[in-house]
Amino acid sequence: MEKHNNNAKAFISFDKVSKSFGATKALINCSVSFEVGKIHALVGENGAGKSTLGKLILGVHKHDSGSIKIDGKESFLSSPRESVKQGLVGISQELSLLPDRSVVDNIAIGRETTIGPFVSNKQTLEKVEAVMEKYDLYIEPSRVVGSLSVADQQKVEILRALNTNARLIVFDEPTARLASHEADQLHNLVHSLAKSGTAVVYISHFLEEVLKISDTITLLRNGEKVRTEPTSKETKKSLIEGMTGRDAGNLFPKKPKINEKSEVLLKVKSLSRANEFKDVSFEIKKGEILGIAGLVGSGRSELAHAIYGNRMPDSGSIELNGKEFITKNVAHSIKNGMAMVPESRRDQGLILERSLLENTSLPYLEQFTSWIYGLNKNDEYSEVDDSCKTTMIKHGGLEKEVQYLSGGNQQKVLFARAAMNKPKLLIADEPTRGVDIGAKQVIYELISQLSKVGEAVLLISSEVEEIIGMAHRTLVMSRGKVVAELKGNQITKSAIMEAAFEQD
Ligand SMILES: Nc1ncnc2c1ncn2[C@@H]1O[C@H](COP(=O)(O)OP(=O)(O)OP(=O)(O)O)[C@@H](O)[C@H]1O
Ligand SMILES: [Mg+2]
Repeated sequence: MEKHNNNAKAFISFDKVSKSFGATKALINCSVSFEVGKIHALVGENGAGKSTLGKLILGVHKHDSGSIKIDGKESFLSSPRESVKQGLVGISQELSLLPDRSVVDNIAIGRETTIGPFVSNKQTLEKVEAVMEKYDLYIEPSRVVGSLSVADQQKVEILRALNTNARLIVFDEPTARLASHEADQLHNLVHSLAKSGTAVVYISHFLEEVLKISDTITLLRNGEKVRTEPTSKETKKSLIEGMTGRDAGNLFPKKPKINEKSEVLLKVKSLSRANEFKDVSFEIKKGEILGIAGLVGSGRSELAHAIYGNRMPDSGSIELNGKEFITKNVAHSIKNGMAMVPESRRDQGLILERSLLENTSLPYLEQFTSWIYGLNKNDEYSEVDDSCKTTMIKHGGLEKEVQYLSGGNQQKVLFARAAMNKPKLLIADEPTRGVDIGAKQVIYELISQLSKVGEAVLLISSEVEEIIGMAHRTLVMSRGKVVAELKGNQITKSAIMEAAFEQD
């Protein structure tokens, strides 16, 4: 991809900016500037301060010290409204749309064209359509946002940003929820935005992606800037070493051997649920890591939820340890040795206003409770503490609310919770989404440990490398059906992609 080398002009610059949250120093003396027409990437481990930097630009937080200049003038970005006025907008790490409203409502919100005191729907629509045309990004304006795919919802967020005549857009992990062809589309869009003079701040854990699309990379570690370099001077290895302060090493542990004679733990027979998945059959042996690859929306998560007892299949059956297993509800599945890391940490996983302690131990409170003594708080505390340590969660205390953890650390909480139950079957749905390379290594190591002690893992992932690096065997799903099964060294990127895109 061609890079933009037009004369760079600093649009917004930070000079020795610091920001703390209580005792946490999220950003320390950070000096960095973002230029017109350039894609400037921010990389760093979970909790390094990337989103905080983005949020200072967007006026979500206010800096404690240092100065922020826009077009060379000292500026005080004290609210999101003020930032929007200056042309600074963001696509957040978690989408923030009104699901019940239409596409046009979401894009034009707060910027409707008015005639006197009345909103002119016709003119608002025309304006939105003009923006769609300008950026070649079309979504039916009358569609209800909640019914769109994640990729299309994200486009709505981008269109909303473009509709404000943005001069700078912060993308905070925009591709974490996208399939690879959707990510490519997004890269093209980001590229054309930069070409037309928009400054882009691009936050991502996908280092290949960052190396491919950015002009400049700033590395953050523990709130401090390590360096800012032209992208051409960095490599994946140099970035990993800069982020972690360690040697890059191997991302994936050696695959544990599975005993050919090992027993079947889970057997799924002709499982179907209307409009979600159809006639799915497979087995997992004890100690086996079974991948499920496929595009977002191919029915993988729905299948996982049906096995875990979150929703009931319409037909088919499940056997666990050789006995028929009738799914009832999640509590019943947990009792029978299952645990799940759900795909969406907000909607299915965490209660953000509750503490780290509560979020981690919630499904297991019964285990810590006896009818004589009630809840054993000490046991609860020490098990949660252990689990958070093994998963390397960076937190400011187990009593702190989960909403104050960085995105990747929130993801680790889900893993800590699932691993705490020492499950016989772990269902992990996109377990490393949004987590940094160090944490990925930890999660892969934990999955591999489970396999070594004979526990089975169902690993759903959109990251092909993850499936290749971890799974003993993988199924590929497309439109609700299993379209391929690949074993050992048959598991390649091209084999997976070919099956995933197969037309019926
Ligand atoms: N509103 C807040 N209140 C308290 N602490 C916060 C808040 N926002 C961020 N932090 C803390 O500041 C630090 C930096 O967080 P930040 O969200 O900027 O990290 P990040 O680099 O974006 O990480 P990730 O890759 O996980 O998204 C973390 O330790 C985080 O827990
Ligand atoms: Mg973040």
